[in-house]
Amino acid sequence: MSQSAIAAEAQRRRTFAIISHPDAGKTTLTENLLLAGGAIRAAGAVRARGENRRTRSDWMKIERERGISVSASVMTFDHAGLMFNLLDTPGHEDFSEDTYRTLTAADAAVMVLDAAKGIEPQTLKLFEVCRLRDIPIVTFINKMDREAQDPFALLDEIASRLALDPAPLYWPAGSGGRFKGMMDLRAQKFLPYTRGGEHPAALPINSNAIAQYLDPDEQGEVEEGAMLVQEAAKPFDVQSFLEGHMTPVFFGSALRHFGIDQLLGGLAAYAPPPKPVAAERNGQPTHVAPGDPEVSGFVFKVQANMDPNHRDRIAFFRMTSGRFTRGMKLKAQNTGRQMSVNAPIMFFASDRELAEEAFAGDVIGIPNHGVLRVGDSLSETGQLRFAGLPNFAPEILRRVRVKDPLKAKHLRRALEGLAEEGVTQLFRPNLGSDFIVGAVGQLQFEVMADRLINEYQLEAIFEESPYAEARWMGGTAADIEDFDDKHKTAMARDIDDQPVFLGKSSWEIGYVADRYPKLQFLRTRERG
Ligand code: G4P
Repeated sequence: MSQSAIAAEAQRRRTFAIISHPDAGKTTLTENLLLAGGAIRAAGAVRARGENRRTRSDWMKIERERGISVSASVMTFDHAGLMFNLLDTPGHEDFSEDTYRTLTAADAAVMVLDAAKGIEPQTLKLFEVCRLRDIPIVTFINKMDREAQDPFALLDEIASRLALDPAPLYWPAGSGGRFKGMMDLRAQKFLPYTRGGEHPAALPINSNAIAQYLDPDEQGEVEEGAMLVQEAAKPFDVQSFLEGHMTPVFFGSALRHFGIDQLLGGLAAYAPPPKPVAAERNGQPTHVAPGDPEVSGFVFKVQANMDPNHRDRIAFFRMTSGRFTRGMKLKAQNTGRQMSVNAPIMFFASDRELAEEAFAGDVIGIPNHGVLRVGDSLSETGQLRFAGLPNFAPEILRRVRVKDPLKAKHLRRALEGLAEEGVTQLFRPNLGSDFIVGAVGQLQFEVMADRLINEYQLEAIFEESPYAEARWMGGTAADIEDFDDKHKTAMARDIDDQPVFLGKSSWEIGYVADRYPKLQFLRTRERG
């Protein structure tokens, strides 16, 4: 395939994630986008798919009991001549680290707001990650069929709390019981909303037929609102959106499948195809363009035991360039290991299929037995390295033991396996035989205990650890070694054998950092 044909295929990709605070409607919107995109036929399929998965893995019991989603995956669908890759991010805040990594694989994000609640804490956190990575954001104000805040107030909140220019492309007529539809500000049409069933086709703004749906007061109100907002808000500017300064705003109801086609149309029209990315080739800075002939990309997630009978491990590989074909050999930059990718998986909403070919923007699942890790860069030559997948210093540290001391070695392997997925972190203190596990939130320990029992038959005990915080070390090898010698009892190694200082309190870390100004005590470490 010619380079321009490869570039043209990449241009057809729209890889995006949905960010939201739990309960804003991400799952419902995902389902309805798949419906609008023709990927599934009936609503309810996403949940049904979840149920199937749950029966296959006991780990998912926690999901079911708590009604949350802890596993991120990807769903691919073909619509309007484009290939959409929707990355599913876990919503619960304990899994934010996983979410952050998933966002490194997205080229755009849909921010879902609950129209009654506006911007919530988790929305803000995730938005900040998008901004850090210059990911353009499309806003969807959901649940308009319920009593909502004044839309002007919602736009103000976006502007003031996110420092983002909101550019509404639609304007709602009422909300809750009085929700009647919305005005398409560009086409100057009215889209009626009806409770239940199909929503009628759009009507020109001066059509008499609008009177069927709006009484004169309501019509006056929506027209005035639309006029005011067009005077007050900056007009939508694609460039400003792509640079992360502006967000197009859509309104709707995911549950009632209203406003979804418009959102999907907006994504098709404005969400960007994959961009060239900064990388290193043999240590030298370079750029990798989506149309480059060499196949390359990075692993942003590893999911183990999706099928516990097979002890499989799927590495989610986001492609950055080239045309991948099944059976191709790819090499990991950090380990130099080469593997033939014979059974790559593409994830469609209702099915998984072998991927015969893939292009920049696509995400393929590579089954492997622990060879691939989060942050690994893969390419045909093995010379390319993509940086920027962060490990965050865990906020809770626990000591892990097994009841049966004969199983200590088994525990180590299990903990390493879980840490390789990048969900929890493992630290091995230089002295003693303890394992210290770090996580961002308490729920991760529960998931871990559950998985240790179900997947590894290990009954683990999580105890208070003497340490409160972990910091990766930065500085010259000699300085770190010297520090290591003097602080043996507080030093550990992470899964990649990198030195880590375990502090008993943040005060202690500050104190030690003051005494060793040549060293850095880092909260994040880039993997790969
Ligand atoms: P999440 O993934 O962001 O956590 O949210 P999810 O889609 O699970 O939605 C959370 C709740 O909000 C669900 O109700 C869902 O039905 C409801 N919801 C989502 N979108 C809309 C909408 O546009 N309008 C209205 N009225 N409700 C919406 P639930 O009662 O918690 O769950 P369920 O029993 O309906 O499954």
